[in-house]
Amino acid sequence: MIADVSRNGAIGITGVGSYVPERVLTNNDLAKIVDTSDEWITERTGIKERHVAAETQAASDLALPAARQALAMAGLDPGDVELVIVATVTPDMFFPSTGSLVATALGADEAGAYDLSAGCTGFMYALAQAYGALAGGLAENAIVIGAETLSKITNWHDRSTCVLFGDGAGAVVLERVSEGGFLGFELGSDGEGGKDLSVPAGGSRNPVTAQTVEQEMHFLQMNGREVYKFATRVLVSSAEKLLEECGLTVDDIDLYIPHQANKRIIDHAARNLGIPQEKIFVNLQKYGNTSSASIPLCLAEAVAEGRLQKGTRVLMTGMGAGLTWGSAYTIWNDGHPA
Ligand code: ACO
Repeated sequence: MIADVSRNGAIGITGVGSYVPERVLTNNDLAKIVDTSDEWITERTGIKERHVAAETQAASDLALPAARQALAMAGLDPGDVELVIVATVTPDMFFPSTGSLVATALGADEAGAYDLSAGCTGFMYALAQAYGALAGGLAENAIVIGAETLSKITNWHDRSTCVLFGDGAGAVVLERVSEGGFLGFELGSDGEGGKDLSVPAGGSRNPVTAQTVEQEMHFLQMNGREVYKFATRVLVSSAEKLLEECGLTVDDIDLYIPHQANKRIIDHAARNLGIPQEKIFVNLQKYGNTSSASIPLCLAEAVAEGRLQKGTRVLMTGMGAGLTWGSAYTIWNDGHPA
C-alpha cells in the first residue's frame, strides 16, 4: 500500500511523549546471565544497555505516562481525545485491548480505542490508520502509542535474542495542522517470512500447554540472519518507493528515523539510500530494540534535543514481525494545531 496523501490537507503530529522503565540492564549485566560480552553486543548491534519493566509493569503502565506527556504537549484535554490506538506485540492480555485500558486510565472516555499488531512496524501502521481516520472525517484527533514489554516474552537463556530487546513506550497526538504534516505513507507485508520472527505458542495455532511451555514456545524466536537480510532490503525499498510516490528525493530529508534494531542495519540502509550520518537519528545504544516503541521514542527524544523543529523534513521507516514494513514522510509543524 502506497499513498501520496498531500491532497488531503495537513494532518500532523502536535504532541510527543515517552516513557522507559527505571531498571537498566547493561551488556555486562547480560554477560552474567548468558555466554556473551559487551564487545560482541556492541560490535554486532551497537546496543550498550536497555530498560526492563518491573514484574508489576505491563504495556499499559508504560503507555500511560507517554500518552499523558504527548497530550500535555499538544494541549489536548484527555476528555476531548477521539481515538486511541496502541501498537504492541506485548499487550497486557489478549483482551480487553491495551488501547481500551489506556483510554480509560487517561480519562479519554469519548474515544474509540483498540490495539494494532504489526510487529515492530506497528507504530507506522497505527500512524497511517490514525491519519486515515482524521482525513476521512472519522475523528478530529488521535493518540497513537507504541508500547512494549518485550522482556516478558524474551527467552533469557537464548543469547541470540535476549541481548537485542528492551522495554519502553512512545506516544504522539495527531491533529489537523496549519502547515507541514504528513505527505505520504508506504506499508507492506510478507507473511512468507512470518516464521522467521514469531512467538509460536499462546495463540489459536498452538494454545499454551505444559508442553509448549516446556519447549519454550511462548518466547520470541528469531532467525537473525534472515531478518537481517529482510531488514536491510526493506528499509531501502520502502523509503525509495515512498519518496518516488511523493515526488521527493533523499535531499528532501533532514532527519531519518529508522526502526532501532541494529546499528549495522541502519548504517547499511542509510549508505544505500545516500543519507549522511548527521541526518540519522540513533538511540538504540540506550534502549535496544523496543519494537513499536522504537520510532516514537526517537521522535520524543529528537524534540527534546531540538533536532525536530518547525519545517524539519522527516522520513521514518519501521520493519519487523509479519514480516512487515512501513514508512512515513512528514514535515514537522512545531506542534501547532490548525
Ligand atoms: N553473544 C556472543 N555470541 C553470539 C551472540 C551473543 N549474544 N549471539 C549469537 N552469537 C554467536 C552465534 O552463535 C554465532 O556463533 P557461531 O559462528 O559459532 O555459530 C556467531 O555469534 C555469529 O552469529 P550470527 O547470527 O551470524 O551473528 P550476526 O552477526 O548475524 O548478528 C544478530 C546476529 C545481531 C541477531 C543479527 O543477525 C541481527 O541483527 N539480525 C536482525 C535482528 C533484528 O533486527 N531483529 C529485529 C527486527 S524486527 C523486530 O524489531 C522485532
